[in-house]
Amino acid sequence: MQNILVVQSSVLGDASASRGLVGHFLDAARPGASVTVRDLGADPLPHLSGATLGGFSGADSPEATAERALSDALIAELQAADVVVIGAPMYNFGITSNLKSWFDRVLRAGVTFHYTAEGPVGHLTGKRAIVVETRGGFYGEGGATALDAQEPHIRAMLNFIGITDIVFVRAERLAISPEARTESLAAAADELRKLGAEGLAQAA
Ligand SMILES: Cc1cc2nc3c(=O)[nH]c(=O)nc-3n(C[C@H](O)[C@H](O)[C@H](O)COP(=O)(O)O)c2cc1C
Repeated sequence: MQNILVVQSSVLGDASASRGLVGHFLDAARPGASVTVRDLGADPLPHLSGATLGGFSGADSPEATAERALSDALIAELQAADVVVIGAPMYNFGITSNLKSWFDRVLRAGVTFHYTAEGPVGHLTGKRAIVVETRGGFYGEGGATALDAQEPHIRAMLNFIGITDIVFVRAERLAISPEARTESLAAAADELRKLGAEGLAQAA
């Protein structure tokens, strides 16, 4: 059975486009999968602090110990996953601060990557990531590619910890017009249902 970790980062709850789209993937994948949900919108992680970094380097104050345990738990969820599905709205050209706080706790030297003379080596190999990007405007085909600080950033962070099999599903133009929104969401939903069913076929 496939283990799927879902990381949601929209703050909009049921009104979130990315959350709805991730749901299409799960509807198709769920019969053959065990699903763990980390909902950063409903349950935000705090920003990185001195205590967090102390925890990473082995400090034993109560705050540092709690921070290390939180990072350990987030990393354990990721280690257990075959597929990680990330709901990633674009906020101000980048990712949400919620999602950044999650990445800040799972990119951990000596745990999920280490440095060598040849460069960094990621430890979380053999996993697939499916990243659902929702955007009011458009930055892909014919769009303002140079302003996109979301997709290259997510790719760099996942690659850094060894996740190189990444599928980006973009739902763009969501604020351009009602028609563009409907069309874009439908195309992304289709793509996600196909990706979900693909995993199911592989697991069979
Ligand atoms: C605070 C905020 C900032 C946003 N910044 C951008 C932006 O820079 N570019 C863009 O195309 N859309 C932007 N949007 C639109 C969102 O990407 C769009 O509403 C998307 O549906 C959000 O995903 P969600 O519905 O899953 O929360 C922004 C929305 C919010 C709330």
